[in-house]
Amino acid sequence: MYKIAVVPGDGTGPEVVREGLKALAAVAQKKGFSYELINYDLGGERYMKTGDLLPESIISEFRQCSAIYLGAIGHPDVKPGILEKGILLTMRFELDQYINLRPVKLLSGVETPLKDKCPADIDFVVVRENTEGLYTGAGGFLKKGTLDEVAIQESINTRKGVERCIRYAFDFCRKRGQEKKLTFCGKTNVLTYAHDMWQRVFNEVAREYSDIKPDYANVDAICMWMVKNPEWFDVIVTDNMFGDIITDLAAMIQGGVGVAAGGNINPEGVSMFEPMGGSAPKYTGQNIINPIAAIAAVQMMLSVLGQDDAAKLVEDAIQKVVLKDMKSMSAGNMGLSTSQVGDRIADYIAQA
Ligand code: IPM
Ligand code: MN
Repeated sequence: MYKIAVVPGDGTGPEVVREGLKALAAVAQKKGFSYELINYDLGGERYMKTGDLLPESIISEFRQCSAIYLGAIGHPDVKPGILEKGILLTMRFELDQYINLRPVKLLSGVETPLKDKCPADIDFVVVRENTEGLYTGAGGFLKKGTLDEVAIQESINTRKGVERCIRYAFDFCRKRGQEKKLTFCGKTNVLTYAHDMWQRVFNEVAREYSDIKPDYANVDAICMWMVKNPEWFDVIVTDNMFGDIITDLAAMIQGGVGVAAGGNINPEGVSMFEPMGGSAPKYTGQNIINPIAAIAAVQMMLSVLGQDDAAKLVEDAIQKVVLKDMKSMSAGNMGLSTSQVGDRIADYIAQA
């Protein structure tokens, strides 16, 4: 019996989460597992009404859950940074979700902006460190607001944090069992302290994984290769900031934020799964947003919970609907409404 915390959140979050939960219900019925959903109204609306972001008591409740399923956080009337830091980053840090897992796969029937690239070429996974680097909030101002102002934003990299991320990536690459190539994406020619340590730890851990080919690419170069030769990549491991940047690029080549999902994973604790699209205020309430990413987040959640067959059923159903039923992956152009996409996926799962 799984206990799943659901955070529909802001904007189109609730609309896409609803469709993800349809897929979950269909697959649970098919595979015979049961679950309980616990709803949390975190997000911009609650913040504006009560000032609450992510109260400690809710974090404690999350710790008792099997997983967290989130729609979107972000509100046009709240100053940038408040909800992101107060909810998303707090959740990552407090629950020690030290991996951000971003599968990048072009499904058949989905259009990529890359000319002459097909599903066989775009199929890799980014393992992003999710609790350190430039995201810790370390730093500060001196003489703020004056002409002598100094602003410092420090990248914190601990041996322990780097090593656990790199080990996760090697294990993941082995388990994935494809090309068995792990690329460390860094900037060793400039970040001669932080990425020197990353590179040393990477080389050390690589010696324990003789079946996996270790590889390196500078972050700027990886942006070129991802566009020119995405087929070179199997698994990429990188730090928090670089991972944030390259996974937006990666989302575009797999068909856009309407299909890209991510997992904030604590392999020993509670993980959170979300679509990458954000709250998309301009599409809110119209039933035209693409729910595929949110449904793919359910697929990922099932796979991390160890329900591999169930995850496969969801993946196959997504593949079917994008190939057979959807005209486009962009909001308003799908040829189906948000809820119709979810209904079809639930039907495909039921018929499988
Ligand atoms: C992401 C998002 C977040 C990040 C923001 C919303 C804080 O862009 O999950 O990639 O930068 O990590
Ligand atoms: Mn991002």
